[in-house]
Amino acid sequence: MSDDLAALQSETEAAIAAAADLRALDAVRVGALGKSGQVTALLKGLGAVPAEERKARGAAVNAVRQAVERALEARKAVLEEAALEARLAAERLDVSLPPRPHPPAGAESGAIHPIARTVEELTAIFGAMGFAVAEGPDIESDWYNFNALNIPGHHPARQDQDTFYLPPAHGAGFETVLRTHTSPVQARTMLSQEPPIRVIVPGRTYRADHDATHSPMFHQVEGLVIGRDITLGHLKGCLIDFLRAFFGIAELPVRFRASYFPFTEPSMEVDIGWDRRTGELGKGSDWLEILGSGMVHPKVLANCGIDPRQWQGFAFGMGIERITMLKHGIADLRPFYESDVRWLRHYGAPVLSPYTLHDAG
Ligand code: PHE
Repeated sequence: MSDDLAALQSETEAAIAAAADLRALDAVRVGALGKSGQVTALLKGLGAVPAEERKARGAAVNAVRQAVERALEARKAVLEEAALEARLAAERLDVSLPPRPHPPAGAESGAIHPIARTVEELTAIFGAMGFAVAEGPDIESDWYNFNALNIPGHHPARQDQDTFYLPPAHGAGFETVLRTHTSPVQARTMLSQEPPIRVIVPGRTYRADHDATHSPMFHQVEGLVIGRDITLGHLKGCLIDFLRAFFGIAELPVRFRASYFPFTEPSMEVDIGWDRRTGELGKGSDWLEILGSGMVHPKVLANCGIDPRQWQGFAFGMGIERITMLKHGIADLRPFYESDVRWLRHYGAPVLSPYTLHDAG
């Protein structure tokens, strides 16, 4: 190999070895093998070499080119490896680090309010049974709150649920009330969805009541199931499963007692077994009323545009404060709304703590 080739090769190899990163290496590649690179120039110059020397010269130049290519490849592999190592080191995630103390030293941890927690739990239980969550407004027209539910203007059931009437909205043509129950969302759902329907409606409700066990604002959860062949048996199975899952008592006694609501026929109140003296659920021989339910009245279906000869179903409504108080042994309703942090710290649920629910089956 002639001296000029040997010098070019060793210079280029030195430059390759000195390239600190992939970008510098590419600059060396372009300088040697690029369109106007030094090795390329030698290859292009072969045409001018006298014919008898051309073969040997060509072989020598090619050997330099191959040596440079190999050196470039090898250096590239080394630099790529180094770049990857650097990235791995920079993006390192130490999964063995201990978790942050909870709460962080010196800070207060928050808690989920027991009402919100109950809503999360019952949404999970009914969700597993295929129920979706529906919503409606707190300020409701008296048509949805009463008339649609088979409670006409003169009906005594209006007095049972005495509420707050608002001044009629300008030009609205109907009275507005703070809804007395979540049942108006039954009507809203039937008017806006085609059956079959399977929804629960957790939400705020209002009545003109105020004492140790009644608050003018409280919470209910409604349930509505409409299908072609939904029966009282489905109602019973669904509510028994829910109550046992929610209270975490596999054998919780549940009793269905004939009752009356204008919007269901037949209607049933549901009781659970407890010991009145100790307050223990599932023990003793006393019964505690816990919710109202029944088969949706054909008039309600018709009021909401559903043909009662083709469709039937059940509905239920229950007080969220009530089941929360029973589940957690909370004796007084008022602290639910007083924002006393000592009470919240005691009865609140830790954020993101898993539910420990009996299998809803
Ligand atoms: N809306 C009723 C109440 O507030 C409860 C209920 C709902 C009863 C659905 C039957 C069916 O008392």
